[in-house]
Amino acid sequence: MRDKLHKILVVDDDPRMCELLSDILSEEGYSTKTSGNSLKALKTLKGEEFDVILTDLKMKGMDGMDLLEEAKQAAPFTPVIIMTAFGTIETAIKAMKMGAYDYVLKSDQTDGLILTVKKALEYRLLKKEIARLRKRMESEYQFHDLIGKSPSMKRVYETIEMIRGASCNILITGESGTGKELVAKAIHYHNDRKEGPFIAVNCAAIPDTLIESELFGYKKGAFTDATSDKKGLIFEADEGTLFLDEITEMPLTLQAKLLRVIEEKEVRPLGDTVSYPVDVRVISSSNREILPFIRDGKFREDLYYRLKVIEIELPPLRERREDIPLLIQHFIDTFGKKMKKKISGISGDALKALSDYSWPGNVRELENVIQRAMILSQQETLLPADFPDSIIGEKQKKDGHLLEKAVQERYAFDQLLKEYIKRLLIETGGNKTKVSEILGIDRKTLYRKMKE
Ligand SMILES: Nc1ncnc2c1ncn2[C@@H]1O[C@H](COP(=O)(O)OP(=O)(O)OP(=O)(O)O)[C@@H](O)[C@H]1O
Ligand SMILES: [Mg+2]
Repeated sequence: MRDKLHKILVVDDDPRMCELLSDILSEEGYSTKTSGNSLKALKTLKGEEFDVILTDLKMKGMDGMDLLEEAKQAAPFTPVIIMTAFGTIETAIKAMKMGAYDYVLKSDQTDGLILTVKKALEYRLLKKEIARLRKRMESEYQFHDLIGKSPSMKRVYETIEMIRGASCNILITGESGTGKELVAKAIHYHNDRKEGPFIAVNCAAIPDTLIESELFGYKKGAFTDATSDKKGLIFEADEGTLFLDEITEMPLTLQAKLLRVIEEKEVRPLGDTVSYPVDVRVISSSNREILPFIRDGKFREDLYYRLKVIEIELPPLRERREDIPLLIQHFIDTFGKKMKKKISGISGDALKALSDYSWPGNVRELENVIQRAMILSQQETLLPADFPDSIIGEKQKKDGHLLEKAVQERYAFDQLLKEYIKRLLIETGGNKTKVSEILGIDRKTLYRKMKE
């Protein structure tokens, strides 16, 4: 009865054939639609989803081969079965190379046809399942522009997801280069405020004398250089996000003013007599511990609690080493595109050295190191020789030269593949035949990979 749900599109320019096939398939419980030519069939395909397409090969005008080509675009998950007369088996095989699922001989018994259709339906389910898994894997490794699958990065993704509908202030802490600004942007663009502006202010980069007028704006004549009114950055961020980078560097007097903005939700420009309402979410960040600043009277405690309604702590890269291979592959891909260089991966020993290194400059340092290596590299794979001695170490560098040829394999990709196999084994309840089919590798290779 379940099969009743499956829809099959039958395409043949011989109306009697269409009718015959339709009868056979209906009897089996499938619902069918017939089409006398490929062009019409294609139109139908664009408006309706089918589970299987059964098409004649030789037709006037657009033939079965053309339909196959078009169907791959219009209905990528729908398997195409080619019907062929004995004399055209060669062409049918060609069609399979082009992506047809299988072929059936017109002279065959109906049993053969039904069996092929059943197999095609199973194949379609599998194909969809793979697509679903792939998507899920990607989303577990990535969130917006953030890469990482370590538990701590996943917690960051979850927090961003959780506060999607909220406007609370957020404090992001972490060493330099851990991705604080990237997280701030991910929060902004994953929020109802994403249509509004994202304004970033680095409190350490603006001199104390200017930061007040920059943030709050001023009225014409407020001071000597104020020749016209100026909107402050807080106002610019109205209905959006204000990102205050290196918040500990903000002068105490301004901290008091900022606290007022947060509490009263209004700004008063320098030299103005009135305040104006603003609606901003403040995300602040610091790569230094804030509590000592509070203890020394350099940071207001009340402001601190206002800023850290939610706190996100980004751990240093050396504490989430499992993210290193992913980040490396990510930077290789992005720089490769930018530089138009065909570098696809990194050698095993270079990856090992990079994974063991302490990364005091965190992701930013890793990004720079990969960029530099890609500029230097002459091969398709990054090798130990492409990295600074301080990271690789002299001895390993020499070993690396000897191993050059042997380690052209893409280690980072292998890691991914292993994770994928593990997942598939779980999802299929340990069905190795199915897993090797999904991956398109033979069982022997699968066993080897499983052992590894
Ligand atoms: N998880 C990540 N995935 C991809 N790229 C990242 C990630 N974390 C950081 N980066 C990249 O590393 C660089 C540094 O990130 P970012 O500027 O956000 O760090 P930061 O914590 O703000 O550093 P600082 O404290 O020095 O300002 C950026 O180029 C950013 O794109
Ligand atoms: Mg920063």
